[in-house]
Amino acid sequence: MSTEVPLQRPLGGNRLGAREQFLAELGKALQVGECWGLVLSQPVPGQAGDGALRVEKVTVRPVEISGQRCYQLAERRGKQEFHRNLGADELLRRTTEEVGAAFAQADLYTRSADLYLRFNGRNGAHLARKKPSRSAAPVLAHDRRKRYIIPEGEPCAFMQEIGVMTPAGQVKAARQAKFRQVNRFLELVEDVLPELPPDGSLHVIDFGCGKSYLTFALHHLLRNIHRREVEIVGLDLKAGVVRDCQRIAERLGCTGLRFEVGDIAGYAPGGAVDLVVTLHACDTASDAALARAIGWQTRAILAAPCCQHEMAGLLSTDVLPGILGFGILKERFAALATDALRAAILERAGYQTQIVEFIDLEHTPKNLLLRAIRRAQPDPAAADAVELLKRQLGIREFSLERLLQDLPA
Ligand SMILES: C[S@@+](CC[C@H](N)C(=O)[O-])C[C@H]1O[C@@H](n2cnc3c(N)ncnc32)[C@H](O)[C@@H]1O
Repeated sequence: MSTEVPLQRPLGGNRLGAREQFLAELGKALQVGECWGLVLSQPVPGQAGDGALRVEKVTVRPVEISGQRCYQLAERRGKQEFHRNLGADELLRRTTEEVGAAFAQADLYTRSADLYLRFNGRNGAHLARKKPSRSAAPVLAHDRRKRYIIPEGEPCAFMQEIGVMTPAGQVKAARQAKFRQVNRFLELVEDVLPELPPDGSLHVIDFGCGKSYLTFALHHLLRNIHRREVEIVGLDLKAGVVRDCQRIAERLGCTGLRFEVGDIAGYAPGGAVDLVVTLHACDTASDAALARAIGWQTRAILAAPCCQHEMAGLLSTDVLPGILGFGILKERFAALATDALRAAILERAGYQTQIVEFIDLEHTPKNLLLRAIRRAQPDPAAADAVELLKRQLGIREFSLERLLQDLPA
């Protein structure tokens, strides 16, 4: 577990001190090539670019392009993400301009430490140094062959157990798609890690875990790669698969991972939940999972829907006869409309929500994933979007809304 070593003077002390120390550490890490990640977040209200075009968050990772180290910035603006590459000097200059001015929060990940800089209007700045959470060197590949979080050629016990890898770490020809899916999922989890508590045990629930390939992958990422303490629960209705998964977890010695038989709707977590994952849970089971996660004020939610029969039954062909008159188009439209309405409801409930691609379309048309992060303050602009979308779709009721209304107070 990390230990916190405050670097900063007492609150109300020298505001520049903490900021300057952070920038000095960033400069040093950039100079020796040991800046493994940087996240700028919590935009300061009233800055230029407020509104639709405002950059809400910048996530930086090192990449190598034509043999040169540079830094890829992923800038989030609303529901979109824009990428650009900068050299070390430019990155330092830009960070110097924006830390404390445009962003009230900055996280730096280096080989030797994690640094967390926080600005609080009244109390000035606070800098905390913690043990490095990124124990492995970052993947630098950018425009070359894709490197994976679980790379081919490195033996991995759970990948072997689920039949994706040989004992030597080679990916079996017939399991390439599963190998890519597992790695893609882990990239999506990595993206939300900076939003989760930086120390202490992480409490994660995988609703509708099924055979739990992705639950084991999640455990591997958090526990073996990031060295976090975890309490991960895989929940499923099917006693047989739960028993098998529990046996595998015990055989592999997966500390902090357990499986339970149960219905999402009635599950009680017994404590705060940091991350809820629900992947391909059928029809309204995804809504039940989202409702639980929202009700617990879970920090981050990753939800990939499965079949979406409810919406298909609600949509009247009269709304868009040229599209909904075709059975297959109606089915696909219903899936998109379900994702959009769930995203709007998550936004209204106080979650910054994106819809991203999960896996290649060649494997399944159900390749979208909702990524939702709890905002510090709800976005007032999200208040009317749900009703507007329902009016446009010509529907009155929707499971997720009903389930949210039924949550215990
Ligand atoms: C298609 S599988 C997905 C398995 C896994 N999450 C994945 O993506 O590979 C859906 C799983 O959700 C489970 N499930 C469906 N409704 C559920 C509910 N209400 N409570 C718990 N599990 C549920 C099913 O039993 C099934 O194992």
